[in-house]
Amino acid sequence: MFLGRIEMKFNEIQELEDGYQVTTYKKMGIAVERGSGASVWTSEGDRYLDLYGGHAVCATGHSHPHVVKAIQEQAAKVLFYSNLVYSETRGRVAEKLVSIAPPSLTKAFFCNSGTEANENAMRAARMATGREKIISFSGGFHGRTADSISATFLGKYREIGKPNVPFHVEAEFGNIDSVKSAADDATAAIILEPIQSMAGVREAAPEFFVQLRDLCDELGIVLVFDEVQTGIGRTGHWFFAGSDLAAGIEPDIVTLAKSLGSGVPVGACIFNERVSSHIKENDLGTTFGGGMLAMAAVLATIEAIEQDGMIENARLIEEVLREQTLDLPNVVAIHGKGCLLGIEFTTPAANIHGMLLERKIITGTSSDPNVLRLLPPLCTSQAQIGELVTCLVQTSAGAAS
Ligand SMILES: Cc1ncc(COP(=O)(O)O)c(C=O)c1O
Repeated sequence: MFLGRIEMKFNEIQELEDGYQVTTYKKMGIAVERGSGASVWTSEGDRYLDLYGGHAVCATGHSHPHVVKAIQEQAAKVLFYSNLVYSETRGRVAEKLVSIAPPSLTKAFFCNSGTEANENAMRAARMATGREKIISFSGGFHGRTADSISATFLGKYREIGKPNVPFHVEAEFGNIDSVKSAADDATAAIILEPIQSMAGVREAAPEFFVQLRDLCDELGIVLVFDEVQTGIGRTGHWFFAGSDLAAGIEPDIVTLAKSLGSGVPVGACIFNERVSSHIKENDLGTTFGGGMLAMAAVLATIEAIEQDGMIENARLIEEVLREQTLDLPNVVAIHGKGCLLGIEFTTPAANIHGMLLERKIITGTSSDPNVLRLLPPLCTSQAQIGELVTCLVQTSAGAAS
């Protein structure tokens, strides 16, 4: 039985995984055995500082005790029943999620991943408008299923997703004139990552979101914020939508996944009345959506973020990181908000990522070769940011000499 301590050495684990899976992921040369907060421990017993948060998923930190307890208790009661029955847990989670969302977003739909949330958002927008065209942005990433990958104008993704779904049109992020020339009365939706994470943590001015909202209102277009990365506290707000980062504007749909279940796979759309009023029985659905185990994880995730003051901490992390890294010799700029940050270097980020990994700090790269991405748990401490800064000072000094 494979339940207790991992007993294999790293190269045995590597051989086992690579031997029986397609090698579609570029992996770091470690095997993670357990985690706590912003730390993970490997098969060799080494502790790593995880400033990549398990790929933007572990917002509450690894195996937060409140989340673990909720999952254990739910698992002992009932692991799963589908939406063919009612569930108190599911009802309470939907209520809670809507209560932290911008006021106009009033109805939730649960699914299993980010790409699926975006597929459903685009479908709902088409249902609500009776139109087909979707506008999305160069640099945005929305997932790997048919509609989501067709809305992804970033690197090779659309190419690997061929044949693409028709009626997807590209606009330039942050440039309202470009959006205006693509938008018309055949446009169902405009979908965007409000901070383009994978593209290198690219931001737009708050004014851009106001212009998008105005344009959508004028032409009857559904505005979708893909908050798969920015949602659930990561930017120092529960949602980018409705916050001062978006100049207070609210989209018609927000999509979520990643942090939502602290690592239990779950995605969601939250709709406003304008869109939800068009969604009828059997229009959207998925077997596993809203299953009790995932719902228990979502509720506990939101509670843990609230109880531990993690949203405030996310803002503090950004402040501390900016303060301590901006003056380093090879740092050009810090991009992003809260715990979604990109450090732009004068040198390739892949080298810095590698050097940090050798010093047992996990970070991420992006499609901008000079931007190192940090997606740390929202509970990361200032001292842990200090560990990163100490290493960067060493690597910066090395780069500057
Ligand atoms: C902004 C954004 N949207 C959608 C997705 C797709 O999510 P998933 O991998 O859960 O399908 C991702 C994944 O990285 C993402 O970053």
